[in-house]
Amino acid sequence: MFLDIGLSYLEVFFLVRILICNQKGGTGKTRTCMLLASALRAVGKSVVLEDHDPQQSLATWSQSLPEPFLFEGNAEEGGFLVIDTPPRLDLTDHTGRNLLTRLVQGADRILLVAELGGLELAAAKPMADFIQHTLAEIPADQRGRAFVLWNKIQARTKEGKQDLAPLAEYLGLPALRTTLPFLHPYHTIQYTGWAGITGEARARVLDLALEIVA
Ligand SMILES: Nc1ncnc2c1ncn2[C@@H]1O[C@H](COP(=O)(O)OP(=O)(O)OP(=O)(O)O)[C@@H](O)[C@H]1O
Ligand SMILES: [Mg+2]
Repeated sequence: MFLDIGLSYLEVFFLVRILICNQKGGTGKTRTCMLLASALRAVGKSVVLEDHDPQQSLATWSQSLPEPFLFEGNAEEGGFLVIDTPPRLDLTDHTGRNLLTRLVQGADRILLVAELGGLELAAAKPMADFIQHTLAEIPADQRGRAFVLWNKIQARTKEGKQDLAPLAEYLGLPALRTTLPFLHPYHTIQYTGWAGITGEARARVLDLALEIVA
């Protein structure tokens, strides 16, 4: 089953930690978690969620599903851990250590979910810098791979048609080839679950999951 999304041998037996972040609010972190978790589950993967946002939107959403996702601590046998974070860089964990430092250094994939626009980019830059500095503190072979995920792309607009490469360069992180369009079904996944996402919208999320775990 794992071959269908091209996972490596190792990734079948070890947990793959996917961290979703941006200290800019409202960029689509929680939606991305919902979409990715649903897509991975839809192709038969074991998925566990971790929600570090005090608002607990991801956790609440999961509880509303006919089959809620498992939460922290049950995923050591392999599969995927999808981790949502609040729009803040300054939270500490129970040991007094910066929460994002621990999460970034422990993740296999780090996704900075960003929107297009000058203000949005400027607001995402501190997180992009934070990711780079934080990864530089640990040995290269222990570092996860960090990417920008462009979200809410409106392909028909001038903004949506621009070359995204310089924007990723400004942030200093490679961008995922797969972007997420601005689509109503992505917004309404909170009510409909994965079943409300069909056709191209669903295919795009599956592409995204594939690219992230490849
Ligand atoms: N690709 C998309 N298409 C349409 N709507 C989207 C998309 N991504 C996010 N949204 C909408 O944008 C809003 C913010 O999304 P979401 O709550 O996922 O962001 P967030 O980064 O988790 O926010 P916060 O920083 O407050 O935690 C929501 O209304 C959501 O439905
Ligand atoms: Mg959120």
